[in-house]
Amino acid sequence: MGDRLRDKVVFFSGAGSVGPGWGNGKAAAVAMAREGAKVFALDINPDAVEETAAIIRTEGGTVETAVCDVSKADQVEAAVAACLKAFGRIDVLDNNVGIIDPGGPEDLTEAQWDRLMAINVKSIFLTCKHILPVMVRQGGGSIINVSSIASTHSLGYSCVSYSASKGAVNAMTRDIALNYGPKRVRCNAILPGLMNTPLIHAGNVTAVYGSVEEMVRQRDALVPLGKMGDGWDVAWASVFLASDESKHITGIELVVDGGITLKVK
Ligand SMILES: NC(=O)c1ccc[n+]([C@@H]2O[C@H](COP(=O)([O-])OP(=O)(O)OC[C@H]3O[C@@H](n4cnc5c(N)ncnc54)[C@H](O)[C@@H]3O)[C@@H](O)[C@H]2O)c1
Repeated sequence: MGDRLRDKVVFFSGAGSVGPGWGNGKAAAVAMAREGAKVFALDINPDAVEETAAIIRTEGGTVETAVCDVSKADQVEAAVAACLKAFGRIDVLDNNVGIIDPGGPEDLTEAQWDRLMAINVKSIFLTCKHILPVMVRQGGGSIINVSSIASTHSLGYSCVSYSASKGAVNAMTRDIALNYGPKRVRCNAILPGLMNTPLIHAGNVTAVYGSVEEMVRQRDALVPLGKMGDGWDVAWASVFLASDESKHITGIELVVDGGITLKVK
């Protein structure tokens, strides 16, 4: 156990994983607990959040859980109240939840667009709405918004709603960083690139690539550092931004992509 986040209370959205292995959220929630944080882990999927919580408990960490759809105002408000009841404060807000729905304007329905925007963008508005006053009252805090390199670069295929949503996440990050800086609340975004997480294995990989091995080979080949990142790369970036080691850093887009965005500027 480390102590980089000793006694900090983290409100963590999307602490589970969509499949077996380590997603960004699951790895970051566990990494924060390993550094001494008290983690309030929430997820829409009760089994997924319980799996992460069981790992933290087994390792001797501190965790409480909630089942919550972060796109729903009443559920977010209740989760924030439950976190405050359990731990009495909130030092770090990690907005990890995000979904992708590939396609352009002609492919997607209005309902698909609205759903993605509610989960990827409105959720951050809602958590910030309820947690910023808590952080201001406490004299500061750190907000981490998980964005994507899709906010600034093409992924090589059309995913108009995802790219637009992550662009909005970056803009919200800058707005909050600027306006809450004087109140000692920092707000930063993490922009993961191609990551080898359960998320990328969840789709119909065989139909697109022929095999999982071929998908991994093709995606690895695109990355200047030689291979995709994984959930732990996002996790360590998250620990840094949550900790006081980053106390003079706010409003940034921390790119975690093995150099892939260097190829086209
Ligand atoms: N994995 C990648 O390759 C990659 C690349 C770039 C950016 N990202 C970003 O990373 C973040 C998530 O990464 P991950 O690996 O943890 O993904 P993940 O899909 O495994 O998601 C983590 C959890 O979010 C939960 N969730 C989904 N919708 C929810 C909702 N409405 N309310 C509460 N919980 C909900 C899921 O149940 C899951 O357990 C997203 O913001 C994603 O856009 C991922």
